[in-house]
Amino acid sequence: MEKEVLNTEDLGYVRKLVRTRSAIVLEPEKAYLVHSRLEPLAKNEGLASLAELVKKLRSGPYGALHKKVVEAMTTNETSFFRDLTPFQVLREHLLPEIIARKGGSKRLTMWCGASSSGQEPYSVMFTIYEHFPEIKDWVLQYTATDISEEMLAKCREGKYSQLEVNRGLPAALLSKYFVKKGMGWQVNEDLRRRIDFKPMNLAGPWLPFPTMDIVFLRNVMIYFDTDTKKQILANIRKILDPNGYLFLGGSETTMNVDDHYERVAISGTSCYRVKKG
Ligand SMILES: C[S@@+](CC[C@H](N)C(=O)[O-])C[C@H]1O[C@@H](n2cnc3c(N)ncnc32)[C@H](O)[C@@H]1O
Repeated sequence: MEKEVLNTEDLGYVRKLVRTRSAIVLEPEKAYLVHSRLEPLAKNEGLASLAELVKKLRSGPYGALHKKVVEAMTTNETSFFRDLTPFQVLREHLLPEIIARKGGSKRLTMWCGASSSGQEPYSVMFTIYEHFPEIKDWVLQYTATDISEEMLAKCREGKYSQLEVNRGLPAALLSKYFVKKGMGWQVNEDLRRRIDFKPMNLAGPWLPFPTMDIVFLRNVMIYFDTDTKKQILANIRKILDPNGYLFLGGSETTMNVDDHYERVAISGTSCYRVKKG
């Protein structure tokens, strides 16, 4: 059977919908992605074709189906301890420094702004539990957000397949912080309760965050245009502690986007701080 291809208008409609609702830019050459992501959705919805799906979307105001389309167009690729070095820097440099500085207040605030299915925020929690057990008694405010409700449900459940835990999770951490659940593994309840998973569109209204010691916004700004990146980085400046740190993905930078940040290079990785003065 020949593959269905959306006509230019319908493809344009989907691109605009996704951009308006999530800021994700789908270049015309990403048409294949639209097709491969939306075909299963159309099928699940009992629709005969992609064109039928777009017709249904066009026929009503923004609702559950539109939301499903936007979520289907997000890329949720992630893994435990992705890129490794940011977590080493966190363990060897940043957390010791922050803990020494905040020993008086005993309060640590962190935000992960594109948590996907949760491997990143849980990797941070494993780092803390393994190397800084004293923080367990601190006021630990750790919020993890994502635009995708489906991903957030997975974060809250903390359940991963064997394949997922094989990607980056050391065996010692698996046996210490997970319980076997059927064919997969679930993060233990104590750890799951430590992270507050909430929906938030980075290009929409922001949650009322406290001042943050550490912000992770990794591998999400690559999908946005420069104006959206500028807006997000400006918003982060408002909530980042003057001594706090921002982590971006390996191919992302504040440079030439927001000059109010300075790059801090430690042990082969980069993080960012708001420039002083
Ligand atoms: C590639 S994953 C990155 C996951 C993790 N930070 C990492 O580096 O492994 C990108 C995530 O960004 C989320 N996302 C995309 N657009 C978003 C938006 N406008 N607001 C919030 N999250 C968004 C997607 O749902 C997806 O889970």
